[in-house]
Amino acid sequence: MKRCLIRGGRSLYGSIRVQGAKNAALPILAAALLGEGPSFISGVPRIRDVYSMGEILAELGARVSWTEEGVLVSPSLSGWEVPESLSRKLRSSVVLLGVLLGRFGRVKLARPGGCAIGARPIDLHLKALRALGASFREEGGYLWGEASRLRGALIHFDQPSVGATENALLAAVAAEGETVIENAAREPEIADLASFLCAMGASVSGAGTSVIRVRGGSKLRGVPHYRLIPDRIEAGTYLLAGAVTRGEVWVEGVVPLHLEPLLAKLREGGVEVFSGPDRVGVRAASRPRAVDVVTMPHPGFPTDLQNPFLVLLALSRGVARVTERIFEDRFRVVPELRRLGAEVEVSGRQAVVRGVEELWGAEVEAPADLRGAAALLLAGLSARGETVLASAGTLDRGYERWTEKLGRLGARVEVVPAGSRGRRQPILCWLGGADGGRSEALA
Ligand code: EPZ
Repeated sequence: MKRCLIRGGRSLYGSIRVQGAKNAALPILAAALLGEGPSFISGVPRIRDVYSMGEILAELGARVSWTEEGVLVSPSLSGWEVPESLSRKLRSSVVLLGVLLGRFGRVKLARPGGCAIGARPIDLHLKALRALGASFREEGGYLWGEASRLRGALIHFDQPSVGATENALLAAVAAEGETVIENAAREPEIADLASFLCAMGASVSGAGTSVIRVRGGSKLRGVPHYRLIPDRIEAGTYLLAGAVTRGEVWVEGVVPLHLEPLLAKLREGGVEVFSGPDRVGVRAASRPRAVDVVTMPHPGFPTDLQNPFLVLLALSRGVARVTERIFEDRFRVVPELRRLGAEVEVSGRQAVVRGVEELWGAEVEAPADLRGAAALLLAGLSARGETVLASAGTLDRGYERWTEKLGRLGARVEVVPAGSRGRRQPILCWLGGADGGRSEALA
């Protein structure tokens, strides 16, 4: 896999436009299969996870075509089986359970992967779908689901789960009668999925709160045009890139409210935060104060920004405690951060971070977890000297055009194929302001 050479120690300045939300695109692309006609979704980020979902839809017989503005999904479905070769690529292939049960009354899906950040069981998904009338059996590593008729039900989740809430929604819109989902996940991506389903003609209310009501059974149509919400995790990652390099970075095309859990922590740490109607900026002229963080379901601090935030804490004044309440194994990046000079001790679900003045470049390996890879990228941008980030291709799963966007902010990043001997790609450094600047090869 490709490597990224980062010449760190430079403050980043400028602004980037944020992509559409990966974690809204994935369930919404799957939901498009429920429509009688085609749906066009704009703002879909060109990232590997989205391409993988597109492959799954195509495997099921849908026609998926990309245009400059977005993706057209024509759901002429022929199949209800998702091969293991595809479902293993993507954890969120699990939402096909709800879609295919809703569409065909049957599904065959290999158990989705886990273990990059924890076991990632699907017991809550199955509990919700069984409540709606589905039955499941496991055979040969596959999950076989059947539902002669889906009927509305009361579903109560023991704990909020984004994916399980999505699966419950996707099956409930096809179920006769009313479904009530209690202790539902409240992430903005859930509300976006619900609003897409409503645009298809479904009746969903309460999404974004912990109680969602669905009146199911109506025929769903294609959506001529639907625009995704912006990606709050990508936005937060770039804001943290500005903070850890003590620069000033703005993200455009965001919903500031979606970023509030991060912004509140940045302010608490003494980072200056600026907000406009659809843009947010941070400026960090000096070392931030250490602040404790506990990840929680939305609207708590998002687990997906926990690793990137560790980098800011590693450079802060003082000692901070980070408690990971969502996934049981989300500190895998710590040994690599320590190779860059970070002082972090992990015990179970808690990390204690002792801030240092600066990090130093080194060779590091991105973990399989997308956000751990992002954390190492930020650490390399901040570190003095050169950092080599191996397995940098992991970032292509969730961050669209990340080398270009970083180059526009003045970062000196260069991607080379793994083990390449050939001439390295020139380091592109954006000269000029946020807009209208130009890139110039520096080497
Ligand atoms: C979604 O994963 C996101 N992925 C994750 O983002 C995000 O970290 C996570 O929600 C939490 O916000 C997508 O939307 C594609 P959960 P999901 O079900 O749905 C446990 C990224 O980097 N659980 O909300 O898999 C689970 O183990 C990714 O963009 C069960 O016990 O997360 C975890 O501890 C990483 N049983 C907790 O619930 C179940 O049946 C929350 O998981 C389901 C989940």
